[in-house]
Amino acid sequence: MTGIERVDLRGAAATMLMTLYMRKIDARSRRPILGDPYAENVYARIDHDVHGLWQFTGDVSTIACRAAVLDRWTTEFLATESHGQVLHLGCGLDSRPLRVDVPSSTRWIDVDQSGVMDVRRRLYAFPEHVVQVPASVTDDDWWDAVDPGRPTLVVAEGLFPYLPPDGVHDLVDRVVQRTRRAELAFDAVAPWTATASRWTPALRAAGTEFAWSWNPADFAHRHPGLRERDDVSIFDEVALREPRLWLRPLLATAGHLPAMQDSMRVHRFTTG
Ligand SMILES: C[S@@+](CC[C@H](N)C(=O)[O-])C[C@H]1O[C@@H](n2cnc3c(N)ncnc32)[C@H](O)[C@@H]1O
Repeated sequence: MTGIERVDLRGAAATMLMTLYMRKIDARSRRPILGDPYAENVYARIDHDVHGLWQFTGDVSTIACRAAVLDRWTTEFLATESHGQVLHLGCGLDSRPLRVDVPSSTRWIDVDQSGVMDVRRRLYAFPEHVVQVPASVTDDDWWDAVDPGRPTLVVAEGLFPYLPPDGVHDLVDRVVQRTRRAELAFDAVAPWTATASRWTPALRAAGTEFAWSWNPADFAHRHPGLRERDDVSIFDEVALREPRLWLRPLLATAGHLPAMQDSMRVHRFTTG
């Protein structure tokens, strides 16, 4: 697990470098929010062609808070369902299975596009019960790797906004149909955030943008069998945990604006 890996990716696959870069900056901060112990070393081993990552410096706390909430929910699941199964969708170069310490009785499946998984396999040494599956999450074939009988947690971080709306809904339908009992944890952006993504220079340069945004009424109508367990505003989390203490009251004030509150939310639903 040494040496430099060349990464030459376009589109949504390139965005995994953006989130990795932000976790690295957070880990270096004087008051880390997530404190990913792997991000700096993994980032240092990548020779990449994605320009302008510095533009995401202002989003570091947002991405770190999102990951911290999803780590917390994952840890809660593992504590109560040690013989369960975690489907970590659009995993990119995230070290989550190492951060949350997956018990050997748990089945953990990382899924991302094949170009990403090639790099992931070379950069991390995962235990045997953490399985790497190269696939598009919108395909059906990778579901053969899923054990339908185990209680399941689906964690999709920074993934759904890049999928077409039908891709999101069909995937959620499959979770309901192909597992006996599941929790589904994912982040979603407000429609205005999706519009703004079209004008974000680094996303434009990578040739991608957000294709799906959160519409609670539409989601509830499309998935009547799901029960919402949690709905967290990442903006509120950042206002509480921002490392620059002087910014916290300003963020708390701005958080009264619904557009800010809803810019990115993390949801946890249960099936059955
Ligand atoms: C913003 S990155 C997030 C990566 C990781 N979850 C993290 O937080 O660092 C988006 C990820 O979604 C993956 N992705 C996008 N569309 C996908 C698809 N159809 N199937 C599998 N993965 C996909 C990309 O390859 C990329 O790794």
